[in-house]
Amino acid sequence: MSDSYRVAILGATGAVGTELLELLESRNFPVAELKLLASPRSAGRTLQFLGEDLPVEAVGDRSFDNVDVVLASAGGSTSKAWASKAVDAGAVVIDNSSAFRLDPGVPLVVPEVNPEAAATHQGIIANPNCTTILLAVAVWPLHQVQPVKRIVAATYQSASGAGARAMEEVKTHTSAILRGEDPKPGIFPYTLAFNLFPHNSPMTDLGYCEEELKMLNETRKIFGAPDLRVTATCVRVPVLRAHSEAINLEFEQPFPVAKAKEVLVNAPGVKLVENWQTNYFPMPIEASGRDEVLVGRIRQDISHPCGLELWLSGDQIRKGAALNAIQIAELLVERHLLKPTTPAFSK
Ligand code: A2P
Repeated sequence: MSDSYRVAILGATGAVGTELLELLESRNFPVAELKLLASPRSAGRTLQFLGEDLPVEAVGDRSFDNVDVVLASAGGSTSKAWASKAVDAGAVVIDNSSAFRLDPGVPLVVPEVNPEAAATHQGIIANPNCTTILLAVAVWPLHQVQPVKRIVAATYQSASGAGARAMEEVKTHTSAILRGEDPKPGIFPYTLAFNLFPHNSPMTDLGYCEEELKMLNETRKIFGAPDLRVTATCVRVPVLRAHSEAINLEFEQPFPVAKAKEVLVNAPGVKLVENWQTNYFPMPIEASGRDEVLVGRIRQDISHPCGLELWLSGDQIRKGAALNAIQIAELLVERHLLKPTTPAFSK
C-alpha cells in the first residue's frame, strides 16, 4: 500500500478552501484522512470529498491532533492563532495567508521557482501572495536566462482575491445596478461592479498599499534576489476570478522577443497565448479554472533598449493560491519531507 497522509484544511468553506478540496481529489493527493475546519459559523455544514459528505468543524485546540499536513487559508489572524499549535501537534502547515511570508525562518515557495526552499522548513511553509505567484511563474524563466534588474507591474485583480463573499457581492451588486438600484458596499470599501479602484489593502507610509509591497518583498525572497527593484500599482477590477498583470521588465542587455517566447513556451506552469492578427491574448475568463499562467503580448519596450513588455492572466484561486499550496504538499511528499500514514482514504 502506498503512503498517504492525514490532511486538514483550515478555511475549508472559503473560496480557496473549496478549491483545495477539489484539487486534493482531482490530483489524487494521497489522503488518509481529511479534516475540514472553519469558523464556528460553519460547524455542522458538510462538504463533499470523493463522493462522501464530510462534516465541517469549528477549529479548536484538538483540531490538529493526528494531522500530518494543514492547508491553511482562513486569513492572517486565524493562521497566527493556530499555525504554531498545529506545528506543536506534529503537523506541517502550508499557509496561504501573509502571516509568515517574510519570516526568515519560513520558506516562501513557488514550486516552479524555488522548490529547494521547501526542504528548509521548520513546520511552516508560506504560500506567496497571488499576484506575486503569477508574476514569479512568468518572470523566473526569463530571469534564469538573463537576470532581470527592474520589474514594473500594474495589476488587474479580480474579486476572488477578497474571498467567496466578495465574489458574491460583485454578482449581487451587478444585478442590483442593472435593476436601477444603488447597492451599498459591504465586503469591499466601494462598489466594484461596473467600477474599479486601487487595491483595498491597507495603505503604508511609502504611498504603496500592502498588496504592492508584497509584490516587492515576496518576489525578492522567492527569487533570492534581495536587491531586485520592483514597483507595482495594484487595482481591483470587476472580474470574478483570475488576475491579470501588465509587466515591464528591464534587463542588463537587450532580451530578444523571439528568445523570450522560446523560453516561455518551454517554461513550467506557463502557456503562451498570443495571436497578433486577432488581438487575442490572455484573458481572465480563459485563465479561470486553468492551472497554467497565460502569458502573451511579449514585445520590445520601445522606451528602453533592454526592456520587455508582457501581459498575463492567471487563476488567482488556483495557481495564485490553492494549486500552489497543493503543489507544495506534493513536493513534500516527493521529497519525503512529510511523514506518511496509511491506509489511504477510501469510500
Ligand atoms: P467560515 O465560512 O466559517 O467563515 P474566504 O477567503 O472565501 O472569505 O474564506 C475564508 C475562510 O476562512 C472560510 O472558510 C472561513 O470560515 C474561514 N475563517 C474565517 N475566520 C475564521 C476563524 N476565526 N476561524 C476559523 N476559520 C475562519
